[in-house]
Amino acid sequence: MNQIYRQARYDVHDIFEEHCVERKIADNPLPDNIARKEAPQIPDMPEYEVIRHFTRLSQMNYGIDSGFYPLGSCTMKFNPKYSELLCRETKALDIHPYQPEDTVQGTLRIMYELQQMLAEISGMDAVTLQPAAGAHGEMTGLMIINEYHRKKGEERNEIILPDTAHGTNPASASMLGYKTIEIPSKEGCVDIKALEEAVGENTAAFMLTNPNTLGIFEKDALKIAEIIHDAGGLLYYDGANLNAIMGKTCPGKMNFDIMHFNLHKTLATPHGGGGPGSGPVAVTKDLRSYLPVPIVEKAEGKYYLEYDLENSIGRIKGFYGNWLVLLRAYAYILKEGSDGITAISERAVLNSNYLRKQLEDVLELPYGELRKHEFVLSGSSLKKKGLRTLDIAKRLLDYGYHAPTIYFPLIVDEALMIEPTETERKETLDGFVNALRAIMEEDVETVSSAPHNTAVKRVDDTQASREPILSYRMRLNKR
Ligand SMILES: Cc1ncc(COP(=O)(O)O)c(C=O)c1O
Repeated sequence: MNQIYRQARYDVHDIFEEHCVERKIADNPLPDNIARKEAPQIPDMPEYEVIRHFTRLSQMNYGIDSGFYPLGSCTMKFNPKYSELLCRETKALDIHPYQPEDTVQGTLRIMYELQQMLAEISGMDAVTLQPAAGAHGEMTGLMIINEYHRKKGEERNEIILPDTAHGTNPASASMLGYKTIEIPSKEGCVDIKALEEAVGENTAAFMLTNPNTLGIFEKDALKIAEIIHDAGGLLYYDGANLNAIMGKTCPGKMNFDIMHFNLHKTLATPHGGGGPGSGPVAVTKDLRSYLPVPIVEKAEGKYYLEYDLENSIGRIKGFYGNWLVLLRAYAYILKEGSDGITAISERAVLNSNYLRKQLEDVLELPYGELRKHEFVLSGSSLKKKGLRTLDIAKRLLDYGYHAPTIYFPLIVDEALMIEPTETERKETLDGFVNALRAIMEEDVETVSSAPHNTAVKRVDDTQASREPILSYRMRLNKR
């Protein structure tokens, strides 16, 4: 535990101490009619057997605590244990969303300050913490965009995206009934001419992540903003790659109107994986009144939930967001401070470019040289040998590394998308490079039949989706 960590922990403790009222839990909180009448039938096992069983199970899985996770775009980054400990504090856990505001002032303060911190990092003016994941943030943002145009009496039904966009962008737009228009990239960046041709009176918004999913910074961001705004549309920033630019620039400076954060990709919270994540949405002051309610505000030294937002799209999640994920992000920002936040991005970009340089003679690197926090290689040349990117990804598991993201973005043939993140050490990156180099020297049979050393061998990629074991119909039949 270093000094800063201790300080961050105590700061959060102090806030709880100062503001929280402990909730008394009765000795037996369950009513008699649902309380267990007999002791559960649990096998009688010695403690060490139980521990061995769970240790064995944990070793069959691969997680961020077991090793390097170079998963581009989806980013599994380190989940600091101090924030896990904080989340187990009774004062973080034993609160209820229906408690009166004056008994949860500490919680509200943390949420209020996190809103402010995120606004500062993004250069935007107001924030909602409600969305439960990045994709949920996208949908929230698009609902705001939709309401904004509707209030102006405009019917705009098109969302434009570059071909590097993450799949959730067009999916979120389609879910809201928008028509999506994909424009091609030129040298890995938005093709300005294609954008100019695509915009028009039906353009509701353009969605962009910067740096884009190739890890390339879209240096024409201001020009893009001008084109979209001149056409009466709004500019949406997919904040998934924000960890590449924090403290250097921000969506506000690039004239974006609205954005989401992926707290798990930028601020070291666990990746939801279908479970509780967090994708706060930030907007410019003109769009504040459209945010979902409530947001947390402060007046006369008291924190309160503000429901009075004139154009609000309403609630998009029960209560106020995934509180324990928000607490982790808050603790991380507090611990890092503003210099630390900038250093995160510097280190993420340095690690990515170090790895890129080491690997560009192993596989091809389409489009130019420098990258931001991630880069995309192409395994196209492997096809001559009868191998595919998928085989390399599987073989990496035998070497003890999680595979990078593969086959995304689609504009790169046989893509391998690598994001080392800022937290990894040079030795770890070198180990990964050595593993990839070693795999390239191996015989085709060994690689194409990998993995050999994992608990589960090669699985059928599509069977689970094509032949689901549990379907809605089956569940209905069982009733
Ligand atoms: C560029 C980009 N946008 C959006 C998302 C969606 O975020 P989430 O997985 O939190 O829904 C991701 C996911 O990893 C992403 O990489």
